[in-house]
Amino acid sequence: MKLLDTKNCCIQEWPEPIVRVQSLAESGVPVIPERYVKPPSERPVLDCIADEVNIPIIDLSGLYGEDEVRKETLNQISVACKEWGFFQIVNHGVKPELMHEAREVWRQFFYLPFDQKQVYANSPKTYEGYGSRLGTQKGAILDWNDYFYLHYLPQSLKDHNKWPTVPVSFRDVMEEYNVELVKLSGRLMKILSTNLGLGEEYLQNAFGGENIGVCMRVNFYPKCPQPDLTLGLSSHSDPGGMTLLLPDHSVSGLQVRKGDKWVTVQPAPDAFIVNIGDQIQVLSNAIYKSIEHRAIVNPVKERISIAFFYNPKSDLLLEPARELVTLDQPAQYLPMTFDEYRVYIRTRGPQGKSQMESLKSPR
Ligand code: OGA
Ligand code: NI
Repeated sequence: MKLLDTKNCCIQEWPEPIVRVQSLAESGVPVIPERYVKPPSERPVLDCIADEVNIPIIDLSGLYGEDEVRKETLNQISVACKEWGFFQIVNHGVKPELMHEAREVWRQFFYLPFDQKQVYANSPKTYEGYGSRLGTQKGAILDWNDYFYLHYLPQSLKDHNKWPTVPVSFRDVMEEYNVELVKLSGRLMKILSTNLGLGEEYLQNAFGGENIGVCMRVNFYPKCPQPDLTLGLSSHSDPGGMTLLLPDHSVSGLQVRKGDKWVTVQPAPDAFIVNIGDQIQVLSNAIYKSIEHRAIVNPVKERISIAFFYNPKSDLLLEPARELVTLDQPAQYLPMTFDEYRVYIRTRGPQGKSQMESLKSPR
């Protein structure tokens, strides 16, 4: 059986000239170009759950409380991983000032003149740098966003020359931010691992211990004159391990699938949004869910989000943990490396959960 369409995996360049969505938006067009118009079934209409519903918000200070409080906090995380695949965390230990600074240095980057940003233009070879599309299929319908993608770990992939140099504080702020988020992710991995009934270190070890991969995708969603016709980011599940998203606390836009409806996440003050990626769905044998999500855009407000991806070492074979494979619940997925796995989204672009389906173990 052929698992992946690897035909295009070595494409070096984009199939069409790149248009910066921010430039389009700033040109003041009253109508979006056809390339951004989604088919009716994908447009963000009517199928949203009322605004009072939100993903769970979990106070991590409970982990250091009395036994009862600690148990209750662990349970909240467990339920969120199983039922939502998404939750917000507050009192997570990362200073709010650092979160604000991180958002601010990226805002300044996206506000640079066109030519200064073009220096960082990316290609589908590594995706690193300033980009405006995900996927290399010619003629694809595009999303209403620009982004910057960069590698932090492993050390061998980190290249400061590919990081923005403006503002001057950029590197220091992003280094500190990444150090803090690696620590926080390590703590969360232990919790997830314990909650699954595996040893505290199981998930981290399955990810390659210290040899994990970390990268980030900073999304810039410009204002959009016809937000009902397009999406800032099409429905997808994150291919990697776990994502910590720093949302824009002043404007919502992230939507998470709940059954056949969409819940708009209302960001809590100074919270991170955590979500389970496909690799943890695989390791947990589908006990934890990597849930589809998408971003909508706004006619009057732009939005910036920073997605921090905590991934397995890219050449390890990942498969469901033996402890979680039973007669009743046989292994749901075939072993695969993350390197192989991510070719799919990198060529086809965001496609809901279709990739996970392709990895399902045949019965
Ligand atoms: C992502 C993502 C959502 C957002 O970058 O993978 O899902 O709100 N971002 O920007
Ligand atoms: Ni995502």
